[in-house]
Amino acid sequence: MYKHLLRPLLFKIAPETIHHLIVGMLRIIHYIPGGRLLMRACFTVRHPSLEREVFGLRFPNPIGLAAGFDKDAEVYDEIAALGFGFVEVGTITPKPQPGNPRPRLFRLPKDQALINRMGFNNHGLENAVRNLRRRNWYDPYRHKPTTLLGGNLGKNTLTPNEAAPADYLRLFRRLYEYVNYFVINVSCPNVANLAHLQDKDNLHQILRGLVEFRRGQNQYRPILLKISPDLTQAQIDDMIDVMMECGIDGIVATNTTTSREGLQTSPEVIEHIGKGGLSGKPLTKRSLEIVRYIHEKTQGNFPIIGVGGIMTPDDALAMLDAGACLIQVYTGFIYNGPGFVRKICKRLKQRAEQAATIQEAKTTKAPETQRTEAAESEATLSSQATKTTEMHASTGTTGTVDALPSEGTDATAVSEKPTEIPQTSKSPMADTSLAIEATNTPAETSNTSGEPTSTALTPEPSAPEAPEAPDPTQPTPTDHKPEA
Ligand SMILES: Cc1cc2nc3c(=O)[nH]c(=O)nc-3n(C[C@H](O)[C@H](O)[C@H](O)COP(=O)(O)O)c2cc1C
Repeated sequence: MYKHLLRPLLFKIAPETIHHLIVGMLRIIHYIPGGRLLMRACFTVRHPSLEREVFGLRFPNPIGLAAGFDKDAEVYDEIAALGFGFVEVGTITPKPQPGNPRPRLFRLPKDQALINRMGFNNHGLENAVRNLRRRNWYDPYRHKPTTLLGGNLGKNTLTPNEAAPADYLRLFRRLYEYVNYFVINVSCPNVANLAHLQDKDNLHQILRGLVEFRRGQNQYRPILLKISPDLTQAQIDDMIDVMMECGIDGIVATNTTTSREGLQTSPEVIEHIGKGGLSGKPLTKRSLEIVRYIHEKTQGNFPIIGVGGIMTPDDALAMLDAGACLIQVYTGFIYNGPGFVRKICKRLKQRAEQAATIQEAKTTKAPETQRTEAAESEATLSSQATKTTEMHASTGTTGTVDALPSEGTDATAVSEKPTEIPQTSKSPMADTSLAIEATNTPAETSNTSGEPTSTALTPEPSAPEAPEAPDPTQPTPTDHKPEA
């Protein structure tokens, strides 16, 4: 219904206009008694197999809304009512800023992609705090907000990189009591020179202040780094080093790419659109590759939020199987509509149930019928695995293959990962489209940016740095339970 009726209509309107309309509608729902409950009833899938415990927080399901949609923390509860397990608000900057001139958001329907150069448009820190305070005023579960929130932090465009640590610290301190985890965004391609902050020294300077501030707090807030898909392997290795050295809790991989490789949209249109970060389907393979690389390199010791090009439930499965503990969607949500999270959740639940059936049949003396049922489920899983594999093979990834059950495999090992609580080695936890469619959108810039990314990522066989012992000066994991 969304794809065939609503989307064609919505896609006739400039993407950023639609975005504002949708946010406006969600705000109205906020004031309609029972509105959110009704939405929840329609869109939310609840099942124990969907729950995840990651960096000390309990997520009702592993699917979050990526940063950039609710930049000013206006509608996170309403978005969560669409079935999301968590919402990342921001990017928030200390001072309000208008972002780049419009048009700055473009659809590429042929590629199921978006290009944006929003440039951290937002109403600033104090406005976000006002909105986040409302969280408790209006939530019926007053002392137990149902929506888990991430706060995505960025420096103001006019702040020189040397002064960036002060921007991030100011945001971190002020928002500390309002969000459940933080993401340090140093990877947006639309803010001049921001990506330079991904250098080791710059990152150390930013993160040191945050970790020191956190040390003095009663409540623990996980800090994650959001990285670019355009990093080289050596740069990703640096990120991993920084995480280990600074006591960072995890990585969000990835932001949008400046690459324009392999697009179906004509080069003329792409050139008309100009600069910006590309998201959606063209990003699927690269994000997956990076998540898998980091997961292998860190031996699963650091939680990864996998984001980038998750356009189908199978993409979501592939991302989780590549090592992501949680995933986020943005462009996939725009292209698939409000039922997207529900679809993913149902797919995850279905696979968990199938795996459980197989496990049960294997571990108990199953009657013949049960064995037959298990054999059928296994056959279904295998054929689904083959499909996913074929799909990802066609895009150069290996998808879910290694995580799906095969003859003789322990099915528990292939179920979703609720039991695999990532051990952070250092933290105390263990220590809209806008403007115009690409097909008809010229923009003021005609420069196609896009340094292609380095391709194959191969983790070295050597073991990564040994995780440090938890810092005894930090509160224990129970101390760090996010406040309800
Ligand atoms: C219009 C738009 C605005 C975005 N704004 C932000 C932002 O403010 N901060 C951020 O960290 N990422 C931002 N992103 C990046 C997304 O959070 C996500 O990392 C990226 O789009 C890849 O995921 P996707 O392919 O599911 O869209 C934005 C993406 C889009 C499309």
